[in-house]
Amino acid sequence: MATPATSTPATAGDEVTELSKQYDTPMGLAHTTMQALKDRIKLHYDLASDYYLNLWGEHIHHGYWATDNAKANDSKEVAQVNLIRLLLDISGVAEGSHVLDVGCGIGGTSRYLASQLGCTVTGITISGKQVQIATRLTKTEAAKAEMSKDVEADADGFISLGKGKVRFMELDAELMGEFFAKDTGAFDAVWISEALSHFPNKGLFFQNAHKVLKKGGKLVLADWFKAEGLGQKEFDNDIKPIEDGMLLPPLCTQQGYVQFAKDAGLEISGGPKDISKDVSKTWDISWSLVQNPALWGFAFTQGRDGIAFLQSFRAMRRGYANGSFRYAVMSFIK
Ligand SMILES: C[S@@+](CC[C@H](N)C(=O)[O-])C[C@H]1O[C@@H](n2cnc3c(N)ncnc32)[C@H](O)[C@@H]1O
Repeated sequence: MATPATSTPATAGDEVTELSKQYDTPMGLAHTTMQALKDRIKLHYDLASDYYLNLWGEHIHHGYWATDNAKANDSKEVAQVNLIRLLLDISGVAEGSHVLDVGCGIGGTSRYLASQLGCTVTGITISGKQVQIATRLTKTEAAKAEMSKDVEADADGFISLGKGKVRFMELDAELMGEFFAKDTGAFDAVWISEALSHFPNKGLFFQNAHKVLKKGGKLVLADWFKAEGLGQKEFDNDIKPIEDGMLLPPLCTQQGYVQFAKDAGLEISGGPKDISKDVSKTWDISWSLVQNPALWGFAFTQGRDGIAFLQSFRAMRRGYANGSFRYAVMSFIK
């Protein structure tokens, strides 16, 4: 049968599966207050982090496939580490740095910086469950490296890993300026990978980063963005379902972040480098990984947010294919 002339052609990558069709979800719990949104974010990571670890590994961030060869051959685990390497390249964070890893997930990046670069890393996350998982994974890795059974934290909570050390804390990043006030200027680097898009007050984050960095310290950032100058239709089709399902306050543009950083007294030192086409494969892999009825069943038990989360994977693929949704890395210096 001929396609009716009025139908919208399917966007490349916008693939509905039989499984996802069974869980069609109406859009849009408006975030009534920013505290309500934070509570939902915390609950999401408390409930879903074991699943992230099983499905996605120790990094809860995109993979970076920079070349055709990498796109054809690199696993997602290799590509996820390559994103960290890219951030190190653009920022020049040095070996042995004292790093604050903001929104640290289950600690994959913190452990990498400690074990590979000898950094002293404090990871903070809003999810207490993530602190537990991150600490457990770190102790296991340290025990393996030291060929010992018991690994204990030191008096400040740090666990030694290679030449570096790591600790994890449950802390709302919006409080980090106050929390680390006594250590003002203590960090050589603030690292934030795919967490800032969750924060309601982006300007406050840049001010806090400035507060806790040493003079000459670096802010290293990877995040999700909307494209400049989007029309209402593109916004409604692509960006709104991402903000809704991924629990994000309104997404910013890349230049929006640059302006927040300038206003906070930070200078741009790397990027913004838009790497959307080199990271979008992440969601092709993710969409195929979640074609599992047990996972949708689990998401269903979390209520509407759980289902909207899985459904938004399609919107991520559509947004990348349409160019309305973007990914970039950048670095700043105090
Ligand atoms: C997509 S994960 C990224 C994890 C990690 N940076 C990585 O690259 O693997 C987002 C992280 O942001 C954290 N997060 C979100 N809102 C936060 C807040 N207000 N304060 C601290 N952490 C927050 C979540 O708990 C989660 O660890």
